Amino acid sequence: MTSPDLTPSKLQARGVWKTFGAAVALQDVNLDIAENAFITLVGASGCGKSTLLRTLAGLEARSAGTLTCNGASIEGPGPERAMVFQHYSLYPWMTVLENIKFCRRLAVHRQPHDSASVEAAAGRADALLRLMGLAHVASHYPSQLSGGMQQRVAIARALMSRPQVLLMDEPFGALDAQTREVMHDLILHVHRLERSTIVFVTHDVDEAIYLGQQVVLMAPRPGRIHQIHSVPLPAQREQDMKLSPDFLGLKRELLAQIRATSGMETDFDLLAKLSRAGSIDLAPEPTAHPTHG
Ligand SMILES: Nc1ncnc2c1ncn2[C@@H]1O[C@H](COP(=O)(O)OP(=O)(O)O)[C@@H](O)[C@H]1O
Ligand SMILES: [Mg+2]
Repeated sequence: MTSPDLTPSKLQARGVWKTFGAAVALQDVNLDIAENAFITLVGASGCGKSTLLRTLAGLEARSAGTLTCNGASIEGPGPERAMVFQHYSLYPWMTVLENIKFCRRLAVHRQPHDSASVEAAAGRADALLRLMGLAHVASHYPSQLSGGMQQRVAIARALMSRPQVLLMDEPFGALDAQTREVMHDLILHVHRLERSTIVFVTHDVDEAIYLGQQVVLMAPRPGRIHQIHSVPLPAQREQDMKLSPDFLGLKRELLAQIRATSGMETDFDLLAKLSRAGSIDLAPEPTAHPTHG
């Protein structure tokens, strides 16, 4: 994915550092993300996933290095980059349709709005409602929807302004496993249809492999890129692939790397020692004596 001269990356990081006081949240991050790529960032909590995503969004200023989108330095948020968070951040007093159109309305305020652009926006909102399976709840309020449906609205709203880049920070982290599977296939469908570039943060290795063409594995203390893995699965994903040897092989490798870089092994060692010392009884509870009478 690194061919900087022939095909300029959609997003590029060169020697990016981010520090919070003495803490190094990002250490020398180098990354090339091609147009229309679907990249997942995975790693233990605190390894800098959100910080990297927020610097790409322009919500956080980097401490050093260069960061570009379409070859232009990222110095703040821009309309070509949209962000989706774990918590749905919908306006509770607006209907689904009003929520989706809201950002567009802001854009319309800035431009001279003729009837054609308003009509185009309405058409786009309708198309997104259908794409996200929200047409039947267009006039509902967020509180009337399940978590999964609320997150569909948030994604539709992010897509409203046709962003080139979608930055997603654990967007399905609060959803149950089954809803999450549905959302995975939906976001892959959106990616194919909209031809956007997606950077998706997760701490779930299965999610990272199923969605990503490449999985960027990050490690903590200091936050950094540990390794970039290409995902050896067909472009058209199907849920059954989660049981394939290629999927499981990569999963095993990623989990081992996360364990090795996160300090979790030390905790396992400690737990084993404590349990040998009898400080923690890991054996199943002895069954209580049956009482008679
Ligand atoms: N606003 C902040 N102020 C101080 N430290 C922060 C701030 N944001 C993140 N950090 C620190 O930077 C590191 C990376 O955090 P974060 O990017 O949220 O990790 P992740 O998303 O992988 O869990 C952590 O050690 C965290 O405590
Ligand atoms: Mg995070």
